[in-house]
Amino acid sequence: MRILLTGSKGQVGSCLRDRLPENWELIASDSQTLNITDAHNVHNMVKTFEPDIIINAAGYTKVDAAETDIAKAFAVNATGTLNLAQAARTIGARLIHLSTEQVFDGYHHVILTENMAPNPLNVYGHSKLAGELLALNAHIDTAVIRTSWVYSEHGHNFVKIMLQKGLETSTIRVVDDQIGCPTYAGDLAEAIIRLAALTNPARGIMHFAGSQQMSWADFAQRIFAEAAEIDERYKQVKVERIATADYQSAATRPEFGILDSRTIQNILPEPVADTPLAHIIAKLLA
Ligand SMILES: NC(=O)c1ccc[n+]([C@@H]2O[C@H](COP(=O)([O-])OP(=O)(O)OC[C@H]3O[C@@H](n4cnc5c(N)ncnc54)[C@H](OP(=O)(O)O)[C@@H]3O)[C@@H](O)[C@H]2O)c1
Repeated sequence: MRILLTGSKGQVGSCLRDRLPENWELIASDSQTLNITDAHNVHNMVKTFEPDIIINAAGYTKVDAAETDIAKAFAVNATGTLNLAQAARTIGARLIHLSTEQVFDGYHHVILTENMAPNPLNVYGHSKLAGELLALNAHIDTAVIRTSWVYSEHGHNFVKIMLQKGLETSTIRVVDDQIGCPTYAGDLAEAIIRLAALTNPARGIMHFAGSQQMSWADFAQRIFAEAAEIDERYKQVKVERIATADYQSAATRPEFGILDSRTIQNILPEPVADTPLAHIIAKLLA
């Protein structure tokens, strides 16, 4: 199996690199070696390496910055995804692309299945939805995996921010009225690998997220509880639960973003179980 991986230095990309089977040939690209917004480069790279599968882990992921950096968010998340889908089609490769729970508005507080109508509340969500639609229309052999609240030992994420802040301040204000499912990028990478290994390729939209629902404040509390098992300084940290209205951010986020992961979990030969948060915290505090 030959894989072309984009965004290989991001959270999901790094976790994929750590886990891809050794007998799979990996061409790992990053924003320097393959800017997915450059259609010409994308087509050249795809024609040169002729991958069986393109995994697109590249994305413009700065949700608040996207509110003003609209052209770039769409260039990467929409046009870049289209470029990969078109290139995949020309050589008959599969495309596995990542999207987000932020394509939904979360107004109805119901668990989100793949057939529900999206309605993004922010530019990032609009750009990701555009990418999904463009890829699915351009290439039949596209699988879109929507995920949520991704964290890992790599890159920039909520767990790392909390661990850093916990050493700097004793009380941390965290939003308590947005509910989601934190997803370890390593578990997502494992699901992508199992999906890629299927001989009968899965197509269309699938949801994959961690199995535990919680607010950001709940998540922060769990992070500090686990961290305190390793480093006593985290025992002092207090989480002050606040409302979204009391937290300034440029982008509006869905209040409720619980993805139903049953479609993908049922397709996989073995479902992917959550890696305990304690394992990732232990890596980060080692
Ligand atoms: N993080 C989350 O909470 C979350 C939630 C739901 C869905 N997702 C989706 O999951 C995917 C992976 O997320 P992640 O957390 O792993 O993101 P990440 O850590 O921000 O990594 C994204 C990677 O994409 C690269 N990239 C940006 N623009 C590019 C371009 N024009 N060409 C090629 N590469 C480019 C970035 O490289 P540079 O750093 O060099 O720019 C970065 O390495 C994304 O599609 C994201 O939308 C993420």
